[in-house]
Amino acid sequence: MTTHAKVALITGAARGIGLATTEILLERGWQVAMVDRDAPALSEAAAGLQGVHPIVADVSIPAEVDAMRDAALGRFGRLDGLVNNAGVALFARAPQTDFEAWREVMATNLDGVFLCTQALVPALAETRGAIVNIASISGLRASTLRVAYGTSKAAVIHLTKQFAAELGEQGIRVNCIAPGPVRTKLAMAVHAPEIIAAYYDAIPLNRYGEAREIGEGIAFLLSEAASFVTGQTLAVDGGFDATGVGLPALRRGD
Ligand SMILES: NC(=O)c1ccc[n+]([C@@H]2O[C@H](COP(=O)([O-])OP(=O)(O)OC[C@H]3O[C@@H](n4cnc5c(N)ncnc54)[C@H](O)[C@@H]3O)[C@@H](O)[C@H]2O)c1
Repeated sequence: MTTHAKVALITGAARGIGLATTEILLERGWQVAMVDRDAPALSEAAAGLQGVHPIVADVSIPAEVDAMRDAALGRFGRLDGLVNNAGVALFARAPQTDFEAWREVMATNLDGVFLCTQALVPALAETRGAIVNIASISGLRASTLRVAYGTSKAAVIHLTKQFAAELGEQGIRVNCIAPGPVRTKLAMAVHAPEIIAAYYDAIPLNRYGEAREIGEGIAFLLSEAASFVTGQTLAVDGGFDATGVGLPALRRGD
């Protein structure tokens, strides 16, 4: 069956930023292939939504990515947008980050983006579609405990440019969102109280973001409104990346 509505495939769609983005695109008339490796969470998230097709797949496993592509195109017959959002966070001091943990982070956060993009380029070329990769402010600025996570996200920012350089002639745009902190399950598992306080101190808007605020940036980059934008990273981060030292002192009136 080929639908006339635009279709997006969103990885990591069972919760958090991926689920919020799914809801925003549905509100704008898209249909969504929701991909996640957490089968129970995915079926619960998809149950209440019209216009979605849940697909259980692990984006770090090539055979599962191929099956994911076949399932999405079999259901919808077209693809206009790919959101590479699935991600994992493991925070540890650099000397204590073992190779297994490093590989686990790279497998989903970096290999997954590469595999899903490669698998879906032919379908996106047919619609002159768009790709949005989800990196992080941790890929723009280094901070403690993120040797694997931050490096994986910096690589995603560069991978975005690599794909943008080569896919432009097929009319495919490739952009990146670097979210600031959002209270999702991923963030709350690794954000200790002192990290939360440090983020408040370092963010001009002085708060965490909402998942929908990240989704709005993703929807913009997928849309025709961004038709001449490719190879870019948009930080949706309350101003974190724009600033350096001094905010807490300013707030105290020093
Ligand atoms: N929440 C934040 O503060 C924050 C900040 C910056 C960047 N990000 C990035 O945003 C993205 C979404 O994060 P979130 O906060 O919504 O996290 P989340 O943990 O709430 O959701 C992530 C989803 O991805 C799925 N997933 C993980 N690995 C997968 C794999 N290999 N294959 C398929 N599905 C997989 C999980 O099952 C989960 O449903 C991630 O790439 C994350 O690194 C989040």
